[in-house]
Amino acid sequence: KRMRLVVAAEKCQGHNRCRQLIPDLIEIDDLGFAHAKGDGLVPPALAEKARLAVRNCPEYALRLESVDTPESQS
Ligand code: F3S
Repeated sequence: KRMRLVVAAEKCQGHNRCRQLIPDLIEIDDLGFAHAKGDGLVPPALAEKARLAVRNCPEYALRLESVDTPESQS
């Protein structure tokens, strides 16, 4: 199973910890709020750091969802 990183825009207060931990997965907009880059899919190599980022957001704005990819269904 792949994981997708989701940012709840209404919760993000721009603490920027996620960006520090997983700059490959997070982009910060002009107002300083975080968004998942691209489709948000987390490469396996970054899964542990993504979990760390979820735990480190003071606003609980980040979460990881399981995604059913075609490869994992076979
Ligand atoms: Fe926002 Fe949390 Fe990151 S408040 S900038 S999602 S650490």
